[in-house]
Amino acid sequence: MTFPEPRQLYYVAEATVHLGEDPALGESQAEAAVAAYRTASEDEWAFGDEAGAQTDLALARIARGEIEGAAEAVRPVLDLPIEQRNFGITSSAQRVHAALHADGRRSCRAAAGLRDEIEAFRYPDVGAHPVTPPVGSAAMTPVHLAGPRLALREVEPEDADALLAIYGDPEATRHLSFEPRTPDQVQAIINRSIASAKDTPRTEYCLAITRLGEHQLIGYARLATEPQQAATIGFALHPGEWGKGLGTETVHLLCALGFNILGVHRIWAARSPLNEASARTLLRAGMTEDGRIRDHVFVRGAWRDSITYSILEHEWSPNDVLGVTADER
Ligand SMILES: CC(C)(COP(=O)(O)OP(=O)(O)OC[C@H]1O[C@@H](n2cnc3c(N)ncnc32)[C@H](O)[C@@H]1OP(=O)(O)O)[C@@H](O)C(=O)NCCC(=O)NCCS
Repeated sequence: MTFPEPRQLYYVAEATVHLGEDPALGESQAEAAVAAYRTASEDEWAFGDEAGAQTDLALARIARGEIEGAAEAVRPVLDLPIEQRNFGITSSAQRVHAALHADGRRSCRAAAGLRDEIEAFRYPDVGAHPVTPPVGSAAMTPVHLAGPRLALREVEPEDADALLAIYGDPEATRHLSFEPRTPDQVQAIINRSIASAKDTPRTEYCLAITRLGEHQLIGYARLATEPQQAATIGFALHPGEWGKGLGTETVHLLCALGFNILGVHRIWAARSPLNEASARTLLRAGMTEDGRIRDHVFVRGAWRDSITYSILEHEWSPNDVLGVTADER
């Protein structure tokens, strides 16, 4: 298998820059990759790879002590619109941030300025360390969040059938806090989801989960903000999509929404004691089991306990869990 030329040049540069043994060679290879992406045909171009080449160029220049040249190299990445800042891209920017923080560069004013810019890029709406609770801010409407394989978007009227395929399904709802929904009930959920996006302040994010680059709803995710800079999450995928790591990625995207965009401090979730898939998914996504709420929900004619999980803002980072690789960028 051969890659298009820009990608080959990018991978060569990536290897040299990360080995770190020859920054001058890394710089010239990264320059070649950046130039190749600038003139790439539509088939050869991939914005994630182009951003990777640009951050490699920045890293090589930092290694050579050329901070202004690094700022110039990474500028197109920092100018990307929010919806294109997926995990691969924010992780690449984070590597530049870390390199700027290394010994010997900490006191350099140009390095500090570029670090500030990267922090503003990673936390576009609320600043790196929000001091006032931004909960309920309408900072991200409409939502567009992208992971390696999934995206979250706002719910639309046309999503009713796809949501019914999940919420009307006995298997998919077996452990949820409600019985399978009727088409009318699903329509009402769609209507409420759309209406809640217009609330000011917005406290509910009921979102469609789609495959990256596709429009079809394959799952439904909800994040609701609460007092004390907290948020609760819930999610369900179509059974045909289970077992491929997409549940883990969904939790990760909800954490990105909560921590990066809305500035919450704590995100939590509750599952049925029998919901083993949810237990494993929440742990896999980096959450910690907190305990049990007794008789939390009344469902199918009986009270049911819930097991709860949480993750705190400092426990989460955009590039863990999913193991983003150069290929996925
Ligand atoms: C919960 C749900 C989203 C998991 O999605 P998924 O894409 O299958 O999960 P992933 O593939 O990311 O798997 C995450 C972990 O769960 C494990 N897992 C998934 N399904 C499982 C099952 N049925 N039984 C036991 N473990 C399971 C995986 O092996 C993986 O664990 P590991 O990484 O330790 O091996 C999905 O089962 C679902 O939509 N269920 C119905 C709705 C629901 O229960 N939502 C949760 C409400 S709290």
